[in-house]
Amino acid sequence: MKRSRFIGLAGGVLAAAAGTAYWSSDRRNLVRADLGTDDGARLGPTIPISLPEDEREILALAALAPSGHNTQPWFVQPLAPRRWIVGQDRRRWLPAVDPEQRETMLSVGAFLQNLEYAAAAYGYTCRWTLLAAANQDERVMEVALAKTPSPVAFDLAPIRDRRTVRTGFLGEALRGADVARLLGAERESIHYLPTGGPESRWLDTRTIEANRLQSLRDPAQNELGRWIRFSSSEARRRRDGLSTGGMEITGVAGWWVRNFYDERDVMTPAFRARGLERVRGEVATSAGWILITSPDASVASLLDAGRRMARLFLQVRALGIALHPMTQILEEPATRLELSAALGLGEHVQFILRVGYLADYPPPVSLRRPVAWFLRPPGEHATTPPRRFRPADVA
Ligand SMILES: Cc1cc2nc3c(=O)[nH]c(=O)nc-3n(C[C@H](O)[C@H](O)[C@H](O)COP(=O)(O)O)c2cc1C
Repeated sequence: MKRSRFIGLAGGVLAAAAGTAYWSSDRRNLVRADLGTDDGARLGPTIPISLPEDEREILALAALAPSGHNTQPWFVQPLAPRRWIVGQDRRRWLPAVDPEQRETMLSVGAFLQNLEYAAAAYGYTCRWTLLAAANQDERVMEVALAKTPSPVAFDLAPIRDRRTVRTGFLGEALRGADVARLLGAERESIHYLPTGGPESRWLDTRTIEANRLQSLRDPAQNELGRWIRFSSSEARRRRDGLSTGGMEITGVAGWWVRNFYDERDVMTPAFRARGLERVRGEVATSAGWILITSPDASVASLLDAGRRMARLFLQVRALGIALHPMTQILEEPATRLELSAALGLGEHVQFILRVGYLADYPPPVSLRRPVAWFLRPPGEHATTPPRRFRPADVA
C-alpha cells in the first residue's frame, strides 16, 4: 500500500475511534433541570415516605437553600403532622474550613428562611422553638406549622430560581435604588462596599491571599476533593456537593474534568494553581462586596445571619444582580484576624459576598437531595446507622 494511502486510512480509523470514545463519554454537565420529577427513590438511602404532598413540597423548597460546598447539612425529623425538628447532620460538617460549625449554622439558617417562605405560600405560619445551645448540637430548631386564617399569596419563583453565580460579572457599581432596596430595613447588618473603594480593594486582595493560603492547606484541599462530584453519574447518585455545572466549569474543560479527574487531582500543584487563577479572574470584576454581620456569635445570631443572607439572596435575581459567597477570609485564621480592624466594623462578619450585575442570568444548576434522603425517623441519631424509614414512624 502506498505510504500516503496508509496514513490516510490509519488517520480515518483513529478519528472514528476518537469519535466513538467521545460519544460514549460523559459529554454534558448534569444540571437540576435534567432530574425533572425524579425523586431519587431508586437511588436514595431511604424509601419514600407518606408525608402529605404540601409538607413534602415545603421541605423540597427549603432544601433549595445555599450551603457551603453544597453539603446540605440539614435533616428533618417529623414528630407529628406539621411538626418537625430541623437538625444538622454531623456527617456533613466541613472540619477543615469550618472547624467550629459556624458556616453549618448559617446554612441551616438559610434552610429555615426558605422553609418559612415556602410554608407561607402553602398557607401556614411557623412557630419556632430554638433547641441548640451550641453550634455542635444536633437538634437545632423545632418548628410547628399552623394554618393561617388569612394567607397571603407568596411567589415561589425566587426560591426555585435562586442560584450562586461566580462568573460573568459586570464591573459597574450597584445603583443607589438597588442598594436601598437590598439593604432595606437591615442597614445595621447588611453593608455594601462599592467597587473602587478602599474596603472593596482590601477584600479583593485579601480574598486572593486567603484562597492562596487555603489552597496550600492539604486538609482543606482534601475536603474540597471529597465534595466535588466529578462525573455526572456520581452527581446523579449523590445529589449534593460541587458538580462541574455548579462550579461553572463548562465546554472542553468541563468534559475533561468529568471524564479524567478524580479526588487525587485536587491535591496536585497544577489543580491548586488553576483554582487560584480562577479566583483572581473572579475578583477582578464586580460591583464590590456585601457583608452580613451579627451582634455576636451565638447560635441564634448565626441562624439569623443565615436567614438574612437567604432573604437577600432571594431578592437579587429580579434586579439582575449576582451574589457569590467567598468565605475564605473568614476561614483562614491569618486573614480573619485582620478583617475587623481593616474594615472598622464593630459587629461580627458572618458572610462576605461578591456582588455584581449580570448581562445574562443563568438558570439554577446545583443539585439537591430529595426530601426522603434527609428525613430522619424519630429517635435516630447520626451515630446510629441509617435505617429504612417506615411511614408508621411519622404517625
Ligand atoms: C456558608 C456558605 C459558604 C459558602 N462559601 C462559598 C465559597 O467560599 N465559594 C463559593 O464559590 N461558593 C460558596 N458558597 C456557595 C455554595 O457553594 C452554593 O450555595 C452551593 O454550591 C449551592 O449552589 P446554589 O447556591 O447555586 O444553589 C457558600 C454558601 C454558603 C451558604
